[in-house]
Amino acid sequence: MLKINKIHQGDCLELINRIDENSIDLIFLDPPYNLQLNKELTRPNHSVVTGVSQDWDKFDNYASYDEFTLSYLKNCKRILKNDGGLWIIGSYHNIFRIGKILQDLNFWILNDVIWVKSNPLPNFRATRLTNAHETLIWCSKSPKSKYQFNYHTLKTSNEDKQERSVWNFPICSGKERLKNVDNETAHPTQKPLALMNKILLQSTIKGDLVLEPFAGTASFCAAAKHLGRKYIGFEKDKAYQSLANKRLNSIKTLDEKLLEINERDKPQKKVPFGTLINTGYLKPGSKLYNINKDYKATILPDGSITYNNDRGSIHKIAAKVNNTSSFNGWDYWHYEDKKKNLVSIDEIRKKIRS
Ligand SMILES: C[S@@+](CC[C@H](N)C(=O)[O-])C[C@H]1O[C@@H](n2cnc3c(N)ncnc32)[C@H](O)[C@@H]1O
Repeated sequence: MLKINKIHQGDCLELINRIDENSIDLIFLDPPYNLQLNKELTRPNHSVVTGVSQDWDKFDNYASYDEFTLSYLKNCKRILKNDGGLWIIGSYHNIFRIGKILQDLNFWILNDVIWVKSNPLPNFRATRLTNAHETLIWCSKSPKSKYQFNYHTLKTSNEDKQERSVWNFPICSGKERLKNVDNETAHPTQKPLALMNKILLQSTIKGDLVLEPFAGTASFCAAAKHLGRKYIGFEKDKAYQSLANKRLNSIKTLDEKLLEINERDKPQKKVPFGTLINTGYLKPGSKLYNINKDYKATILPDGSITYNNDRGSIHKIAAKVNNTSSFNGWDYWHYEDKKKNLVSIDEIRKKIRS
């Protein structure tokens, strides 16, 4: 396994082989766009726009871009934990091709998010609409993955309204934009920290290990370090890699107490119903009731319950009495406390979890 909390220099297609299977909680990818820019882009005052004209963005044709994409995404699937998440950002040049390949690899797309740039570059040639957004795809490893989604945390930060899939942020500028030794923009596609923070706050918890295979200036790792997540980055270009590591060295992690997400978003320990018996909270032979006391089931020593001639889990019997195919038994069944009050069995589960 590669050293963590570092940006490694090299080709991500090789470095990724040195990451253990099922070891990464979240992958953020900002791959080459394959912009296919042929001519230099100038402003009306003839100054040159710092566009993406570097070799790392050049591919012979769509087939070679697709082959490259397939290769790193396959590897991402191998190293991602089964319940991990993957985010990938792109523009109209590449995101549709990437989306198809993700689906071919059986990643499960959860959302596409539109990042609306509040200060986009104008269309200097005035030949098309101003391109004012990029698209992010958020997916899990498979439809069965129990991916981390900090729903309540996002809702709180959105004035208690459910978060939507359109996000507004300015492009990276001002002091945040890194400069090289000649005081020029260091990297043409440095992503804003606010966007990186939002992804991390939505899809990770403190201590998670995240991977940024196309690090550039390592904006994602920078946000990860600040928010107390562990990180690994890859960058092919030596100058970018050393700039990224320098950037990361200057970043401080927030105080531990500030890193907690909303209590309701925290991953919950699995507690089988049998644990309530093994720990002495409930006794075999005692009764469970629904809230109106219409149904009375009996607890058996093995953690199943019976009602009339049926025997099964708390969920199966709750579904049976409600005449439906599935039911959450934790919400349905109650026991009688010493004062004969009905108390939800979920209250005992909460006590055990805490
Ligand atoms: C779109 S930029 C990422 C910018 C980054 N998100 C940031 O905020 O600075 C893509 C980066 O991937 C790097 N790159 C391209 N091909 C690579 C490869 N095969 N392995 C590792 N890095 C690569 C490029 O040098 C470039 O810095």
